[in-house]
Amino acid sequence: MSEPLLIAKGLSKSFGGLKALSDVSLTVERGEILGIVGPNGAGKSVLINLITKFYAPTSGTLQFAGEDATSLSRLQMARTGVARTFQNIRLFKRMTVLENVLVADPETSASPFRSAVFRKSRLDRAIALLDLMRLTDLADQVAGSLPYGAARRLEIARALATGPRLLLLDEPAAGMNEEETAALVEDIGKARQRVEGILLVEHDMSLIRALSSRLVALIAGMKVAEGSVDTVLSDPQVIEAYLGPDDDAAAPERMAA
Ligand SMILES: Nc1ncnc2c1ncn2[C@@H]1O[C@H](COP(=O)(O)OP(=O)(O)OP(=O)(O)O)[C@@H](O)[C@H]1O
Ligand SMILES: [Mg+2]
Repeated sequence: MSEPLLIAKGLSKSFGGLKALSDVSLTVERGEILGIVGPNGAGKSVLINLITKFYAPTSGTLQFAGEDATSLSRLQMARTGVARTFQNIRLFKRMTVLENVLVADPETSASPFRSAVFRKSRLDRAIALLDLMRLTDLADQVAGSLPYGAARRLEIARALATGPRLLLLDEPAAGMNEEETAALVEDIGKARQRVEGILLVEHDMSLIRALSSRLVALIAGMKVAEGSVDTVLSDPQVIEAYLGPDDDAAAPERMAA
């Protein structure tokens, strides 16, 4: 197998006395979608914040595409090809859908005086991303007025506009109904064609099952299981963490938050 896209070793993050993440190691292989599951407060978003450098780790190392990335800044990490979406949607609410994607393109912020040809290529890229994420009809709508599902798809389009190699998605299906979630499986499938790997944090088990190559389960900041989707979702610790000790083992489908 070729070298992994991302290697995290011994990642820990404490907030005061709280150990939000304890000694977590994982890899994202090239071409895969690594699913991350775990109950509320398990450290899933902290993990994304550490990989994207929104938080500095208490300890641990990161390697990205063969290079040490432990001491990169947030901007450097983004430039090297790591993009994310947020659990709590972050969009420019007063800008249109198209403008939101345009300003996410690093070329836009880097070169306000570029020629019309460059502007045209940027616009073409943004339009293609809107098409990919089924947002074309909403291009001129302000982001603040979007329905939930469309806002989440716009977050993905914005992340893709940075041209990432690794995409981290923090609960992309949160707030979506069953139909929207099924459509999102297709959308993330398309996003997968544009990147080298995806790390997918999600409570919705239909999405996790449909998309994940492998799973890592976190509980209370610790990695408790890792492996195939079936192996991890049938792990007694994982089932207990989601359902409580008295529930039957046949119910991981009920994990949805
Ligand atoms: N900036 C912060 N300051 C203090 N504590 C934090 C901070 N961010 C996260 N935590 C704590 O770290 C722990 C892990 O939080 P995290 O947001 O990673 O959980 P999660 O697995 O994403 O949960 P959820 O499924 O609810 O999104 C929680 O106890 C949380 O309160
Ligand atoms: Mg979270």
